[in-house]
Amino acid sequence: AAPVQYQAENATVSNGLVESNHSGFTGTGFVNYDNEVGSYVEFTVSSPSAGPATLTFRFANGTTANRPMDIAVNGSLAADELSFPGTGAWTSWQTRTTTVNLNAGTNTIKATATTSNGGPNVDRLDV
Ligand code: GCU
Ligand code: CA
Ligand code: CA
Repeated sequence: AAPVQYQAENATVSNGLVESNHSGFTGTGFVNYDNEVGSYVEFTVSSPSAGPATLTFRFANGTTANRPMDIAVNGSLAADELSFPGTGAWTSWQTRTTTVNLNAGTNTIKATATTSNGGPNVDRLDV
């Protein structure tokens, strides 16, 4: 099935702000993570069946430093310090994918910054 888009600006945000000052986002904005360890965005996503699913994060990182995030599914670490490298500009958006196991029905996908730089700016998650 075609991926479903989950906008970061509609997700649960902890220690971050919904902003729209860098063009190229989809929906109505993106999340600017506070530049600190532990800031996160948690998406609630639906899966028709249990099993592997590809997560595609759309993000921008206008610095040259990687901004890794831990990706947790239903509270369990699924991707440890997934890399979100520099994209060249805050207006240059790229995608980063990882494959995780989902339950049938409702799942939580939490992307937590693991360095003092915080996460990248996150536009959306496609599942
Ligand atoms: C700049 C940029 C923000 C970004 C921040 C950062 O302030 O405008 O969108 O989140 O840098 O370094 O995290
Ligand atoms: Ca930030
Ligand atoms: Ca968005």
